[in-house]
Amino acid sequence: MLLKDKIVVVTGSGNGIGAAFARRFTAEGAKVVVTDIEPDACAAMAKEVGGVGLAGDITQEATVQAVAELARKTYGRIDLWFSNAGHSGLRQPGELQDDSQWDLAWRLHVMSHVYAARAVLPEMTARGDGYLLNTASSVALSLQVEKAAYTVTKHGALSLSEWLSLHYRPKGVRVSCFCPGPMMTRMLRSNGLPEDHPVMQMALTPEQVAEVLVRGIEKEDFLILFPNSGLLEGLKEKAGDYDAWIARHAPAVS
Ligand SMILES: NC(=O)c1ccc[n+]([C@@H]2O[C@H](COP(=O)([O-])OP(=O)(O)OC[C@H]3O[C@@H](n4cnc5c(N)ncnc54)[C@H](O)[C@@H]3O)[C@@H](O)[C@H]2O)c1
Repeated sequence: MLLKDKIVVVTGSGNGIGAAFARRFTAEGAKVVVTDIEPDACAAMAKEVGGVGLAGDITQEATVQAVAELARKTYGRIDLWFSNAGHSGLRQPGELQDDSQWDLAWRLHVMSHVYAARAVLPEMTARGDGYLLNTASSVALSLQVEKAAYTVTKHGALSLSEWLSLHYRPKGVRVSCFCPGPMMTRMLRSNGLPEDHPVMQMALTPEQVAEVLVRGIEKEDFLILFPNSGLLEGLKEKAGDYDAWIARHAPAVS
């Protein structure tokens, strides 16, 4: 999909990658609807990109429906829904984490994508055209040993995207799952890693990530990955010998 003249909703666009995408999509000629749980950040970004914004919690289906209604009332339709908001959760190596971590991660990383699909699929399938783009993570194709809830729910986001693609690509709705590696945002910094840590060193800037994403949307591939991510090679290794793959990652927990 080319973004020029498209109506795009970006969740979590008050900060981080969502904000970088809102700017870049606007520069590509799209009209952007901003939404974020932080009202000030949401209003500031909507003003900056000359779009409209609605602050709210997208783990609540009513918020997602209200954002979709705002987009339709303002621009008449939604071409692309970019379901991007996420939360890193605590680093708790070897811990199964408490229910509050699981509940939030499930609602934010899986149900918000379900709510988005419910909100826009009727109009997109009626038109035979539209695009659902869900942010998961490189973690969805590998794992993050210090965060159980994040790892499992990002796998869920990928699996849900596969399911949506199977059912709705034949009806004209493209579905992509964005599985980025480290990105230099507030979320990555919240991990408390030193600047010289390899993960921080390899992190892409939000602007670099926006470029990857725009090219990925143009190609409409199901998986949108960082260049040379090595993730698909890692999957082949896992499929080739599951036990060896688990053994190779296990020491990182201790
Ligand atoms: N930063 C990374 O290294 C990295 C790597 C892989 C995947 N991701 C994923 O990329 C996405 C964006 O992450 P980021 O790095 O830009 O994070 P960020 O924390 O900088 O931005 C996330 C935005 O989402 C908003 N948000 C959080 N919960 C919300 C809710 N319930 N309702 C509405 N908005 C909410 C926040 O207010 C914030 O503006 C997330 O899904 C994250 O899991 C990030």
